[in-house]
Amino acid sequence: MATVTYDKATRVYPGAETPAVDKLDIEIADGEFLVLVGPSGCGKSTSLRMLAGLEDVNEGNIRIGDRDVTHLPPKDRDIAMVFQNYALYPHMTVADNMGFALKIAGVPKAEIRKKVEDAAKILDLTKYLDRKPKALSGGQRQRVAMGRAIVREPQVFLMDEPLSNLDAKLRVQTRTQIASLQRRLGITTVYVTHDQVEALTMGDRVAVLKDGLLQQVDSPRNMYDRPANVFVAGFIGSPAMNLVEVPIIDGGVKFGNSVVPVERDAIKAAADRGDKTVTVGIRPEHFDLVNGDGGDSGKTLSKDERAGVPVTVNVVEELGADGYVYGTADVGGEKRDLVVRVSGRSVPEKGTTLHVVPHAGETHVFSTSTGERLSD
Ligand SMILES: Nc1ncnc2c1ncn2[C@@H]1O[C@H](COP(=O)(O)OP(=O)(O)OP(=O)(O)O)[C@@H](O)[C@H]1O
Ligand SMILES: [Mg+2]
Repeated sequence: MATVTYDKATRVYPGAETPAVDKLDIEIADGEFLVLVGPSGCGKSTSLRMLAGLEDVNEGNIRIGDRDVTHLPPKDRDIAMVFQNYALYPHMTVADNMGFALKIAGVPKAEIRKKVEDAAKILDLTKYLDRKPKALSGGQRQRVAMGRAIVREPQVFLMDEPLSNLDAKLRVQTRTQIASLQRRLGITTVYVTHDQVEALTMGDRVAVLKDGLLQQVDSPRNMYDRPANVFVAGFIGSPAMNLVEVPIIDGGVKFGNSVVPVERDAIKAAADRGDKTVTVGIRPEHFDLVNGDGGDSGKTLSKDERAGVPVTVNVVEELGADGYVYGTADVGGEKRDLVVRVSGRSVPEKGTTLHVVPHAGETHVFSTSTGERLSD
């Protein structure tokens, strides 16, 4: 087992004007499950392939444990990779598929059999060992692909969207299996996905990439509670965080009648840069509904705040436990689209008006010009 270090690792593809991966700096702890996530083309697969040795590193270094592997061939890195298209050999049994790499490496037959059986037990594949891949379900095939990686007992697992061939329900099951298996084996793992829910549920830490640049690397909790910039705020969470530009007035920030807490210094720094506005972020689940007349709703708010921001309901999405209201509100003198989570038991009618107040302490403030987080 080992740590993995990306040390300002850069990949520029021949003929490209900008790096596909730009000075990537991440230290992954021994036994950690790190997820690389971001939109299509942001450099996730390239980052993984650099670690695998399948892609040149043009600047910077990559280390596994104390070993500088930057220029080592893939076979000398002690890694095992599971790809999206984990093509199994159709003419071989599950057992032979799983043991193939060991056979090539000249491991004695009896030892291969033992390792394959151990892995099959972990993966619940024992009774399928003599079958051919075509007689397995998608999820079982996926586990065979995992088995191939496990029998090699590598220092590091690399996985590039290994679940993308599975249907939605199987994806959810299999992601739980992979995450718990990884914890049991304790093998350092770098896992690539474009699905932020998968990233949050599986990773010890999550690294968000955009245009080859690392935006934030953090625990799922911190990523959700304190996104470092507007991009991460909008990318992590579904439905996405509401991001609304509001004017800076008297050195403070307001959303409707509610004061949004931000350090004076941070607002001053924004104003000194010439910014007239900041971007306020509020997640759909962080609104309270109030009755709109400023009457006593039992919340410790001023009368003005209790009046809330009126939101006209355009569309309601009912998901059983919750409902999401897609509406329009007047914030900072302009019409804004807002998404508000409501209880599934009391969804409002289309065309009606809700009054909402952001939860105290659950608002985020970002610089409109740089996108960086300004609030604590
Ligand atoms: N072999 C290559 N030659 C030139 N450019 C490439 C090559 N492979 C990838 N790229 C470019 O590098 C960038 C990063 O690609 P990469 O495959 O790492 O993205 P990704 O985050 O894995 O995306 P996806 O979610 O679509 O798989 C993209 O702009 C892509 O077009
Ligand atoms: Mg990719």
